[in-house]
Amino acid sequence: RSDQIRQGRLSGERSANLEHFLASMDADRWIAEADLLVDMAHLLGLRRQGIIDEAPARALMAALLDLHDHGLPAEAFDERFEDIHAGKEACLIDRVGEDIGGRLHMGRSRNDEVATCIRIRLKQEIIALVRSLADLRATLLDVAAGHTETVMPGFTHLQHAQPTTLAHYLLAYEQAFSRDAARLREAYARVDASPLGSAAFASTGFPLDRDYTARLLGFARPAANSMDAVAARDFALEVLSSIAICMTTTSRLCEELVLWSTSFFGFVQLDDAYCSSSSIMPQKKNPDVAEIMRAKAGTVAGALTAAITITKGLPMSYNRDLQELTPHLWRGVEAARESLPLLSGMIGTATFNTERMAAEAGRGFSTATELADVLVREYGLAFRTAHRIVGRAVRHGSLDLATLEGAAREAAGLSVVDLGVTQERIDAVLDPRHAVAVRTITGGPAPAAVAVQLAEQKELLARD
Ligand code: ARG
Repeated sequence: RSDQIRQGRLSGERSANLEHFLASMDADRWIAEADLLVDMAHLLGLRRQGIIDEAPARALMAALLDLHDHGLPAEAFDERFEDIHAGKEACLIDRVGEDIGGRLHMGRSRNDEVATCIRIRLKQEIIALVRSLADLRATLLDVAAGHTETVMPGFTHLQHAQPTTLAHYLLAYEQAFSRDAARLREAYARVDASPLGSAAFASTGFPLDRDYTARLLGFARPAANSMDAVAARDFALEVLSSIAICMTTTSRLCEELVLWSTSFFGFVQLDDAYCSSSSIMPQKKNPDVAEIMRAKAGTVAGALTAAITITKGLPMSYNRDLQELTPHLWRGVEAARESLPLLSGMIGTATFNTERMAAEAGRGFSTATELADVLVREYGLAFRTAHRIVGRAVRHGSLDLATLEGAAREAAGLSVVDLGVTQERIDAVLDPRHAVAVRTITGGPAPAAVAVQLAEQKELLARD
């Protein structure tokens, strides 16, 4: 069967190259099943309004159910039909004849059809992504719960900065993922409107009941304006940007795992399943899964950039350019759908080297802030003065009492010994566990503060 849609207005054959150029068949695999559901809802709507008689409606529904249960035949995806909507219609007409099969498209256009299909599939994908995010968050909370006392270095500028705990570190990522999930859920509400019944853009003179078909397809409501309904893709841009942001979080955590698994850090050992070896270097264990996942964030950011750029110059209403946008949306969805469960598995099976973490926690004068704070809290100095004294002592290479005393005289013209500072007090303050223990305020790394964050996030996750 040839492409029926061309036969009225257009003439001539098209080359396979040209057909391929126009076709959206590859991406249409994402919406093929949704398209059959849209057909069924539209058909029920036509029948309910008395627009189609019972006999052809029954024959059409039987054919649609058969296609749904057995899957669309390969023929429906032939590129000469350009898209699955035309391919599937040709397939229906093949089965039930044009006098019946040719009645389904009453009051409808591929423009409202495709927009409805994309929204249906996207809603399913958002739900799956939020679920995957919930699993990942549960893993992070779980691992964190076992490491509230695991002291490790925290970094700014990737330089040793201040001690923290592994639990505090992992909870920082869990916080970010919980916002990523919230963004997706909020975007869902705006995807949840049905374009069906908008037809090409100006709706239709057939007395369709858009509320009815929207309800049948599980939408919260019909899209309010028929022109907007076929032209809008901001719902896709919003979801894709939420995914791109989520993949950015993912990528940062992967970067962490790549760094932590180097011998320089030695903080983590990834399970062998998540690593690859080298074709030449027999000793190699490389964190390839984390690397590819880190890169996927770039792929998704590219997809978002492409989708936004495709949309930005389009006048109302439907333009074929929109076909070029959809694969970018699915590319982003797929990247996240593949990545999130793997990341959860990678973290859940990782072995953290708590001794290495503890050994690094106090390096690089990471407790200098706490010493300056103690000079303020216990010995009455202004913070800026204490900051300068401790900084000068670090410049001289040590934070022992003698060096600190020299630094105080040099940088502030005062004696910390006269203030009552002792070597014993300094030693206690420079212990990384002390720095963690005193940071009990809201959001801090002290075990008690982390326990509060853990409990709050567990509760939030249960509600999500
Ligand atoms: N394959 C098209 C898309 O993805 C479906 C809509 C085609 N509409 C049209 N007027 N040619 O956008």
